[in-house]
Amino acid sequence: LHVVILSGGISHERDVSLRSGRRVADALSRAGADVTIREPDASLLGFLEETQPDVVWPLLHGSSGENGALYSLLRAGRFPYVGSRPTSARLAWNKATAKAIAKRAGLATPPSIVLENSTFRELGAEAVMRLIARGIELPAVVKPVEGGSAQGVTSVTSFEELPQALVTAFTYDDTVIIEKRIEGREVMVGVLDLDGEPLALPAVEVVANNGVYDYEARYNAGETTYYAPARLSEDEAARVSDAALLAIASIGLSDIARADFIVDEAGVVWFLEADPIPGLTETSIVPLGIEADDSELSAIYAQLAAAAAA
Ligand code: DAL
Repeated sequence: LHVVILSGGISHERDVSLRSGRRVADALSRAGADVTIREPDASLLGFLEETQPDVVWPLLHGSSGENGALYSLLRAGRFPYVGSRPTSARLAWNKATAKAIAKRAGLATPPSIVLENSTFRELGAEAVMRLIARGIELPAVVKPVEGGSAQGVTSVTSFEELPQALVTAFTYDDTVIIEKRIEGREVMVGVLDLDGEPLALPAVEVVANNGVYDYEARYNAGETTYYAPARLSEDEAARVSDAALLAIASIGLSDIARADFIVDEAGVVWFLEADPIPGLTETSIVPLGIEADDSELSAIYAQLAAAAAA
């Protein structure tokens, strides 16, 4: 099986993408696949046309892979790939649309407000603060509406902290989402399409040593304690698993994806976001979930690649 892995790209998550690419390439090679790692540069389509791989696996985190545009190109060229339909990736990549879809499917999701940079500039910080105060209670989390790996994300407990948090988020995207922060356990679920049926992997719980699961906590070994499987009761684990399957199905993601939740003290499962190209690095959640399911990364990745190639 000849697999072309796309990694790198020009997004803010380039380094993460390079790490995911290397790790998946190693695992696929162990399973006997013939793997080529490739940057998604201007000559990509010509290269694919020439080499005619069995399947392409875009591991391009961030907008360069997750906004669906690259998937559309691959579709147009009739190159089979591991990943979702372009529109579904696009819907997931935007946290506001993902939340709206999850809500309509019946999932709980924290209240939120979406704010454009142009509105912020036109009205000024004070007027915007008043609007936000009317719509949402603190503490809140301010995030770029499109972004990954917690880049540009700030947790705020007072309105004084909001302007700086907004400016930080606006450096990553022209639209931000301000979401009420729910206290509870942070759990994430990988969903894989194996044998044509979506499978929810065991939920993985993260507890960042410094209290915030930020970029440093995600990608530096020893900065986060991972519980795989998560410390959930049987009933909670079943509800989280159902919520993940529902979130992924309602957004329409396929092959390999991840849904993130908070489980609060009362056991309510709150949907936060869905990831169309989840990280597959040494410290990422989906590989931990695969291992917690007593499966081999190389076998699972080879199965995903073969299914997409078929
Ligand atoms: N966006 C990164 C890769 C993740 O959440 O896994």
